[in-house]
Amino acid sequence: MNVLRRSVLGLLAARLHAGTSSSRSMAYSAKIGPSILSSDLSCLGSECVRMMECGADYLHLDVMDGHFVPNLTFGHPMVECLRKSVGQDPFFDMHMMVSRPEQWVKPMAAAGANQYTFHLEATTNPGNLIKEIRESGMKVGLAIKPGTTVEELAPWANQIDMALVMTVEPGFGGQKFMEDMMPKVSWLRSQFPSLDIEVDGGVGPDTIHKCAEAGANMIVSGSAVISSDDPRSVIALLRTAVAEAIQKRSLDR
Ligand code: DX5
Ligand code: ZN
Repeated sequence: MNVLRRSVLGLLAARLHAGTSSSRSMAYSAKIGPSILSSDLSCLGSECVRMMECGADYLHLDVMDGHFVPNLTFGHPMVECLRKSVGQDPFFDMHMMVSRPEQWVKPMAAAGANQYTFHLEATTNPGNLIKEIRESGMKVGLAIKPGTTVEELAPWANQIDMALVMTVEPGFGGQKFMEDMMPKVSWLRSQFPSLDIEVDGGVGPDTIHKCAEAGANMIVSGSAVISSDDPRSVIALLRTAVAEAIQKRSLDR
């Protein structure tokens, strides 16, 4: 066997081994969920389809009630229409920036939501809400605002599917990424190695590496994806950064 052929085979074997070890040891994977908040809201259906065609893994839908946050978006009637318009496949992660999140669980499930991500700050009984979301057939996401410590989320981490660490004050798209939230992500990753951890707010090509290194694997990106001339490339770049960090973490273990 000549030297060139041997080195090519060696490289392939190493890649195969790395791929196998990563898929065996890591329960989570890189997923990119565009936030359609900053898209043309009069064309939400086609914007959602466009994002899925550009390689989005899921759609992050921001529900605001003008009370929990100082902004207003849409509710379950809009989600029902979107589901009809985009079909059964796209995964809807509902980011519920609302007071009394308990009241929208059943309507959102009926409208076709897949995951109900509520804010810890908005409820006095997270345990009961988690149970109600599960009984409605949705996955459970639990979000914390920048002022909430990760230790407050930790008691619920084994009962949820995803933890959302906000990297801006919730309410508006296009804000500056808060890098000082990254220790929360790192701590969660160290304590809960297989938990889905999402970041949301100011995440794009300039900030993704911090998120990926800290251990986030579900990436919400609004303006960076929506306002790009080439959303497909931005989504691919974000996913590659996260996948590489996951791979590195699996090799370091
Ligand atoms: C903010 C929302 C985010 C926002 C993200 O309250 O929860 O999902 O739309 O948008 P960018 O990526 O522009 O910060
Ligand atoms: Zn959001």
